[in-house]
Amino acid sequence: MLATALSRFNRLALLQAPTPLEKLERLSAWAGRGIYAKRDDLTPLALGGNKLRKLEYLAADALAQGADTLVTAGAIQSNHVRQTAALAARLGLGCVALLENPIGTDHPAYLANGNRLLLDLFGAQVELVANLDAADEQLHALAQRLRSLGKQPYIVPIGGSSPVGTLGYVRAGLELAEQIEASGETFAAVVLASGSAGTHAGLGLALAEQLPALPVIGVTVSRPAAAQAAKVDALVRRTAELLERPLPKAWQPLLWDDYYGPRYGEPNAGTLAAIKRVASQEGMLLDPVYTGKAMAGLLDGLGRQRFAAGPLLFLHTGGAPGLFAYPDAWSGQ
Ligand SMILES: Cc1ncc(COP(=O)(O)O)c(C=O)c1O
Repeated sequence: MLATALSRFNRLALLQAPTPLEKLERLSAWAGRGIYAKRDDLTPLALGGNKLRKLEYLAADALAQGADTLVTAGAIQSNHVRQTAALAARLGLGCVALLENPIGTDHPAYLANGNRLLLDLFGAQVELVANLDAADEQLHALAQRLRSLGKQPYIVPIGGSSPVGTLGYVRAGLELAEQIEASGETFAAVVLASGSAGTHAGLGLALAEQLPALPVIGVTVSRPAAAQAAKVDALVRRTAELLERPLPKAWQPLLWDDYYGPRYGEPNAGTLAAIKRVASQEGMLLDPVYTGKAMAGLLDGLGRQRFAAGPLLFLHTGGAPGLFAYPDAWSGQ
């Protein structure tokens, strides 16, 4: 069983209970279709989000290796870096992060508010880089530099999306499969944002085994569907290998790439409209980089009848601190 395979890996138990699966009543009434949200935005560390699940496994690995510093990388407004820095603070570890500015903005809110503001509070050390085009090499060079200063660094890859980090979403998939069974609903699809791919890969792997008829659709936030499918698929295979499990027969990477333009980190009109709709109808906050794009895909997919019959399940992966980095996005909306 997948659960047994997973139980062989060390996990820091930071999540004490399943995150809620709730029906979004007013959005469902408006859409004429049941829409549920799995609330991974409510994980219990520093404003929540999906990365805590990956970090439960990554940080356990870091501690087992005797690390004293977590090193990672991402955009200036990375939710992943925020959650890594917060966990490092909580565990009494150092945190050093390489940050890039993927949209080349000099807006003070992007440069200093939102997630970036919080990094200073957590005591993370930040290094700005021109880009992260060779992130793995850049992280290894940083780790080498820290070693020469007597530190014991542990590299957390971008988005926490190594096979070890992906175990967090395998576990989330098992948790969600139980909640779906308890709900008595037959969902048409799960929809989520697909970026560095660990969330999609872990959830996709677990659900392909537990609920093989349920499509798991990733809405890309940074690249075309074919490139993202290859990335997700490779990570599913490497994670199945780590778990010493066969690839589930039902596994296939499903990606929609109609909603990420103009590019990573830049919301479009559909993103902003989806954020506004969910905020005004549900009091629930999405974000301009990931979940706003994924929800725009879900709502547009409904309008274009891209789903089979049945209610839809949205994986809310967090990101709301990013709203404060884009205060001008709303002018003219
Ligand atoms: C809020 C939010 N949603 C979704 C994602 C995408 O998850 P993944 O990188 O595992 O594909 C991220 C990644 O940074 C995120 O911060």
